[in-house]
Amino acid sequence: MKISIFGLGYVGAVSLACLSRDGHQVVGVDIDRAKLDLIAAGKTPVVEEGMVNLMAAVAAGGNVSVTTDAQQAVHATDVSLICVGTPSAANGSQDQSAVLRLAGEIGHAIAAKAEPHVVVFRSTLVPGTVEDVLRPIIEAASGKKDGEGFFLCFQPEFLREGSSIRDYDKPPFTVVGANHPEPVARLRALFGHLPCKFIETSVRSAEMMKYCCNNFHALKITFANETGRLCEALGVDAFEVMDLVCQDTQLNISRAYLKPGFAFGGSCLPKELRATSHLAKKHDIDIPMLGHVMASNQAHLALALRKALETGKRRIGFIGLSFKTGTDDLRESPLVTLAEQLIGKGMQLSVYDPEVHMAQLLGANRRYIEQHLPHIGQLLRPEIEAVIAESELLVVGLTTPEVAQALAVHARPDQVVLDLVNLSNRAAIAAKVEGLCW
Ligand SMILES: NC(=O)c1ccc[n+]([C@@H]2O[C@H](COP(=O)([O-])OP(=O)(O)OC[C@H]3O[C@@H](n4cnc5c(N)ncnc54)[C@H](O)[C@@H]3O)[C@@H](O)[C@H]2O)c1
Repeated sequence: MKISIFGLGYVGAVSLACLSRDGHQVVGVDIDRAKLDLIAAGKTPVVEEGMVNLMAAVAAGGNVSVTTDAQQAVHATDVSLICVGTPSAANGSQDQSAVLRLAGEIGHAIAAKAEPHVVVFRSTLVPGTVEDVLRPIIEAASGKKDGEGFFLCFQPEFLREGSSIRDYDKPPFTVVGANHPEPVARLRALFGHLPCKFIETSVRSAEMMKYCCNNFHALKITFANETGRLCEALGVDAFEVMDLVCQDTQLNISRAYLKPGFAFGGSCLPKELRATSHLAKKHDIDIPMLGHVMASNQAHLALALRKALETGKRRIGFIGLSFKTGTDDLRESPLVTLAEQLIGKGMQLSVYDPEVHMAQLLGANRRYIEQHLPHIGQLLRPEIEAVIAESELLVVGLTTPEVAQALAVHARPDQVVLDLVNLSNRAAIAAKVEGLCW
């Protein structure tokens, strides 16, 4: 394939080297003449393992050319990969000046090109940039429409500096956000041979997932470092601890807990976080990330309260009250806190939870609920149908098939469902279903 690569920094230069190694004809474009001269001379513009030899080999192979002329590059190729920098502006926003300017230049080049050109954005871009910002610029400059006269798509880059050739050849996956089959087919031809999944998604999801990946990596590093600081203060071997943590591939290094849902609660997580913060304070250790987890959880709970109040409904039915499906443990259940707050605002509540029976609640669990919802006995209903029948708003915090089925059969169009569990049968529910953050 004939490919132009715009922006020959870490991402662009490594892509240029690997794609020409794989037999493609590659035109490198940059505004920095010095980088172009290096590449033309078979030298690497970036310090990366393996790049010195690879650049020398591909330059000798004759598949690489360079230019500062965007128009020439677009006309000489079928696909453009856009890898220009998107650094932080002073206020923390993304400085998109390079990609915005380039979109205009590419649009002008497309105006004068007969065949539909494929433009692949590989720079990290805040969600919505390709469709809401770059597409209008290219459409205006080219006088053509995305999906007809040219094709736009977004393919996040996952390589890491220091191991970028190895990462190029063995990425975690290839993700392509596109609205048309044409650019996907082109990218499958370029990257489909790599030993990983090739995943098609929406442009916005592809843009957002790149941020999520980097945020998650930052979060993991910070978690290990905060654990390290705390371990040192406590005289515990941090490497041994983190190694043990990583050996749990059921709950720790797994998909567990990584789905948006309602706030966490229960008899363990909140108290352990509080004790961890207390320990850190006692030893003069700063753990800002772990120390703010409870605050983030409270923000999630506050969102549910706001959404419930915004419906304007006053008769509210809770489906689920314990801290998770399948238990009667009410201690620090966020549903109990939400119920408490709504009662405080003067709402009328009824509650259905198949696991919660007043006569069977014992010990700390009973004391907790008597303290927080003293009239719980009067609120509890033995049948879900009764709660659905008497409520204007249903707060759903239980995921059982029984609940999904009852909502499909009994909920009415005049009701609102506040869905805290991502109900799988939303379309079958006659009430207006509002997700918590989905
Ligand atoms: N560096 C990484 O490890 C990495 C990994 C994944 C994704 N990314 C993302 O990829 C993008 C590029 O990152 P990088 O580290 O390679 O950037 P970089 O700063 O090393 O290189 C960017 C290049 O773009 C060139 N450029 C600027 N405007 C241009 C224009 N109009 N036409 C042609 N070239 C132009 C610059 O001269 C520079 O050589 C960024 O959005 C970054 O967030 C980087």
